[in-house]
Amino acid sequence: MKRVTEIAPGIHYVGANDRTKHRFEGLWPLPHGVSYNAYIIDDEKIALVDTIDSAFTGRLLGEVREVIGGRPVDYLIINHMEPDHSASIHAVRKTWPDVTIVGNAKTLQMVEGFYGISSTNTLTVGDGDTLSLGARTLQFHLIPMVHWPETMVTYEKTEQILFSGDAFGTFGTLDGAVVDEDMNVDKYWDEMVRYYANIVGKYGNPVQKALQKLSPLTIKMICSTHGPVWKKHIPQVIDIYDKLSRYENLDEGVVLVYGSMYGNTELMAETVAQGLAEGGVKNIVIHNVSKSHPSVILRDIFKYKGLIIGSPTYCNELYPEIDSLIRKIELRDVKNRIFGYFGSFTWAGAAVKRLNAFAENMKWDTVDIVVEEKQGLKPDNYALCLELGRKTAQKMK
Ligand code: FEO
Repeated sequence: MKRVTEIAPGIHYVGANDRTKHRFEGLWPLPHGVSYNAYIIDDEKIALVDTIDSAFTGRLLGEVREVIGGRPVDYLIINHMEPDHSASIHAVRKTWPDVTIVGNAKTLQMVEGFYGISSTNTLTVGDGDTLSLGARTLQFHLIPMVHWPETMVTYEKTEQILFSGDAFGTFGTLDGAVVDEDMNVDKYWDEMVRYYANIVGKYGNPVQKALQKLSPLTIKMICSTHGPVWKKHIPQVIDIYDKLSRYENLDEGVVLVYGSMYGNTELMAETVAQGLAEGGVKNIVIHNVSKSHPSVILRDIFKYKGLIIGSPTYCNELYPEIDSLIRKIELRDVKNRIFGYFGSFTWAGAAVKRLNAFAENMKWDTVDIVVEEKQGLKPDNYALCLELGRKTAQKMK
């Protein structure tokens, strides 16, 4: 019987699925859960690559023991220190007191800072350094800011496996199988974009640098810290990360996001969408900002080239949820979008002014029709909303 957790000869998956946590980083909903992946490389010396979230430490230790029996873990390789991967370091050290903790200088500073583990029994590695486990050799490549300053990847030269940390990761649990060729992966693609947009989305340039740096490696398997082990779909996964980090759209279409208290701005949004459809846009994704979670809206903003935002004026400012969304977009420095906007007010207009400042800040290709309505939508602005949609459609061509 094939053991699905032995992903390559002598290399074992020892991660866990989290179907309990509501929000990753306290922010991002997990409707399909998330996996925390760690791996054992079984050679003359035994290496554990990364650990997992503290909620699953017991499971990690049990799985490692199941693979290695009474032998000790010789090396703990730390690719990334965010606590969803580092939180079990202390338990690993306690269980196998002679384990050598392997990381770069920034990693080991964080090991001390987070967990009070100082420099005894640690090994500092630099970019390109190697570590022999016996028959196998590991090589370390630093990829800072994918997604923290200390992040690195570990390349196993015999099987040509890249242990990539967060890079190429996705939300979504592993439901039985571990390697992509043993499962239907369709459910992961949207979650991969949502994961990228929300967790890594700010770091497009570092991701590009990492992709270039790793491009000379022959990679037969990518073992990320979240989601499936990639074997069959490596080109597709790299292409998604490459496009997203260039801020290139993955699909043709327009995201239309609006806030509305009593339906007036919503009617403007519906009319703009009609104009988009009349202009030939087939993929129109509409989000009511009060209902769609920002992580989903950000996912779609990363996915599509067109973005239209509509907001009522609220306390002489943007509608609060729209204000929060545009801050998230600014934080991620999303580039190269075709942008349109509209707004409304009851006695004094502010939303359109704020959206105009946002558009200038983002330096996007902005549609030259802006609609601002006082109170209910009237025929002249109804026509302008249609025109905003049509003009955006033209620009998309
Ligand atoms: Fe999955 Fe940046 O930690």
